[in-house]
Amino acid sequence: MKPRISDGNDTRETRRLATLLEVSQALSGTLNLKSALHRVLEILAKRHGALRSMVTLLGEDGELAVEAADGLPEPQSVRYRIGEGITGKVVESGKPVAVPRVSREPDFLHRAARRAELSREELSFVCVPILLSRKAVGALGVDLRFKPERDFDSSVKFMGVVASMVAQAVKIQRAVEDERRRLLAENTHLRQELRERYDFSNIIGTSGPVREMYEQVAQVAKTNTTVLIRGESGTGKELIAHAIHYNSLRAKKPFVKVSCAALPESLIESELFGYEKGAFTGAHARKKGRFEMAEGGTLFLDEIGDINLATQVKLLRVLQEREFERLGATDTVKVNVRLIAATNQDMEKTIAEGKFREDLFYRLNVFTIFVPPVRDRKPDLLLLADHFVEKFSREHGKIIKRISTPAIDMLMAYHWPGNVRELENALERAVLVCEGQVIHGHHLPPSLQTAEASGTVTRMSMADSVAGYEKDLIQDALKTTRGNRAKAARLLDTTERVFNYKVRKYAIDAHRFRT
Ligand SMILES: Nc1ncnc2c1ncn2[C@@H]1O[C@H](COP(=O)(O)OP(=O)(O)OP(=O)(O)O)[C@@H](O)[C@H]1O
Ligand SMILES: [Mg+2]
Repeated sequence: MKPRISDGNDTRETRRLATLLEVSQALSGTLNLKSALHRVLEILAKRHGALRSMVTLLGEDGELAVEAADGLPEPQSVRYRIGEGITGKVVESGKPVAVPRVSREPDFLHRAARRAELSREELSFVCVPILLSRKAVGALGVDLRFKPERDFDSSVKFMGVVASMVAQAVKIQRAVEDERRRLLAENTHLRQELRERYDFSNIIGTSGPVREMYEQVAQVAKTNTTVLIRGESGTGKELIAHAIHYNSLRAKKPFVKVSCAALPESLIESELFGYEKGAFTGAHARKKGRFEMAEGGTLFLDEIGDINLATQVKLLRVLQEREFERLGATDTVKVNVRLIAATNQDMEKTIAEGKFREDLFYRLNVFTIFVPPVRDRKPDLLLLADHFVEKFSREHGKIIKRISTPAIDMLMAYHWPGNVRELENALERAVLVCEGQVIHGHHLPPSLQTAEASGTVTRMSMADSVAGYEKDLIQDALKTTRGNRAKAARLLDTTERVFNYKVRKYAIDAHRFRT
């Protein structure tokens, strides 16, 4: 027998392959799912004799809604519940259905097109599920002209291929949508974080001295008074300066910071006041100073105690007259800027040494806020510690539930010369090296492990370190079991006898943990 070059079946297969190629191009051509699906349905109409067709997808409400339709008068109003009508059944079962004669099918709802009205000719209906990870997320349904000789098996297979291509497009669209939602959430989170950072309420602490400080901030924020913030290094002066600005009427205007100590003497004036073109070699164009940049807002002069005497004179004038000249300029610039200054120096001493002008100090010292050192606000220490543990756990993606009792004792015993900044650094380090859910004493920096700090050991020998760790573990277990020694022993996988021996050895008061 001679091989047949072409017969009815072959031309049908070729036509179908061409259709699939077009379908795949339509789906990959755009990220807009709706318009891509429209194209697909048009192709099915043109190439495959689909009289009407639609793609339904499951919505979040658990109902099927039309995502795209061709040849239907009012597709947007068509909805099916799962199991309802042929479409609903296909999605429920995940299996395709072919209805050779629609007029004889009682399940056929005629919802989509009031088909009976549209045509009096007999129709066939093929509906295939759109499957993602073997779960139906929708259906593709087409109306075909009824032909007694039609091979429905082959039609269903072909539509199944189209549906699987549609499923891929749905999958990509959902991934894109998820990514967009994730970015949106991240953005909201970042904005929230920004608000928190400058909001008053993110200043942790409820101790007496801190409450006093809050009151002062609240008092002075809404005024235009110059504020001097004094306090040791790392106590949170910058945080207070932010809080004042963002709680003032100038909150929407710029907050400009100048780190006086970080700028070389020769640069500070041009930084503050700006310069005209040609004011000095290298001044190629006019430049605005920080005072002008802060127009309408707040200028924060950090470490004001470090500025040189010549600049002090100029600053005094700005404070008195609210005007200055750019370097190399003759005309005067008027500014509306609120000044906040901060220093950790003993200003009285600096003045006595002749390094700071007394008159400028009085101008700055209109309203002074003292930020207390950590050692004077011990009650806040745990709040701050918890706050930082939570913050850094979140940042480093760890789940740390608490700080162990001995570690807390160590935190409390230490004198914190570097104040909140030192505490913040210590706890970031602890979070980083912590391998479990609890911060232990040995996670804290060496400066806290000294005899002076912990009041326990003179030199860390191995035996002492192990003993310290063992004590930590025992106290932790007792805490978890609320002082129940038998349970605590089991928790540590040891016998009650050994456990009790160690409790006595380390002079641990188990009663302390009963609540
Ligand atoms: N009450 C507080 N609540 C939460 N975080 C705080 C608090 N006080 C300070 N911090 C944090 O401690 C760190 C040091 O604070 P800040 O930079 O404001 O100190 P500073 O007084 O300006 O120090 P320096 O004089 O060294 O410049 C910052 O990361 C800040 O967020
Ligand atoms: Mg600072």
